[in-house]
Amino acid sequence: MLSEVLLVSAPGKVILHGEHAVVHGKVALAVSLNLRTFLRLQPHSNGKVDLSLPNIGIKRAWDVARLQSLDASFLEQGDVTTPTSEQVEKLKEVAGLPDDCAVTERLAVQAFLYLYLSICRKQRWTKEDLELINKWAFQGERMIHGNPSGVDNAVSTWGGALRYHQGKISSLKRSPALQILLTNTKVPRNTRALVAGVRNRLLKFPEIVAPLLTSIDAISLECERVLGEMGEAPAPEQYVVLEELIDMNQHHLNALGVGHASLDQLCQVTRARGLHSKLTGAGGGGCGITLLKPGLEQPEVEATKQALTSCGFDCLETSIGAPGVSIHSATSLDSRVQQALDGL
Ligand code: MEV
Repeated sequence: MLSEVLLVSAPGKVILHGEHAVVHGKVALAVSLNLRTFLRLQPHSNGKVDLSLPNIGIKRAWDVARLQSLDASFLEQGDVTTPTSEQVEKLKEVAGLPDDCAVTERLAVQAFLYLYLSICRKQRWTKEDLELINKWAFQGERMIHGNPSGVDNAVSTWGGALRYHQGKISSLKRSPALQILLTNTKVPRNTRALVAGVRNRLLKFPEIVAPLLTSIDAISLECERVLGEMGEAPAPEQYVVLEELIDMNQHHLNALGVGHASLDQLCQVTRARGLHSKLTGAGGGGCGITLLKPGLEQPEVEATKQALTSCGFDCLETSIGAPGVSIHSATSLDSRVQQALDGL
């Protein structure tokens, strides 16, 4: 079932606009980042297979024979379906994680095993394989947060810059390579609870919340239009529009109840330096993005990163648009990645 090392990477991603609204049928714009996460799966002569997820500090080993015995029940279904409760139980049992293992780590390993046992491994993935990976990743998302829109797995699978609307995905044409700061407030959040919170607010105050979602939809559409224009003929005024859209969306997300004091702090720190930020993803903590306009001097970027780090946040500078999930040969990997994988 596994005869050689399997090396896979997937891009980081952010939602530019449309988080939460997308769950309610509105448009979202999502982009992959030039920050990747890697996994290595390695068979050993002792009959074990190792899983190494360096970015979240996970290293596990399983008996190949044990996995083989599960193979049939996972592969025989043919097409993608929601995992049955028996399969989820089997995954839990096989994962064999200690009781004190964090929930996110536990779910990551179970989702991995689920995908691994269900997708035939190949040296190259075709469009059909990627479609299947996307479907399975969606099922993995369902295991993790219940009622996902599908935007996150889509952008991680396909990469680039995507427009996502009610399950329909299209690539943004000629999207510019924006530079951003990605800041992790390190405040843990529960996507499932945040998504449910927005739904409850919508049910409680439909006349108030529905227009907010409609407005977020309009923000996504305007952003899509401006990005298209920037791809054709970039001009400084377009950045001003992007910044205004970021500010308006951040206020809307706060009104939906998915803000957090740490995200307010992030926005204030960057605002004091003339930069505009919004939360990205579920909110309630988690990550925020800050748009870096062209012409911003590197010392100013460094000072902003430093100011955010002083708040206790992790801050990375990166650009948007990167290939989606990919298979690598061991020799094609950057030496830093090899070292990180070896160091676990
Ligand atoms: C989470 O990254 C994005 C949300 O819109 C949920 C989803 O789309 O599934 C909050």
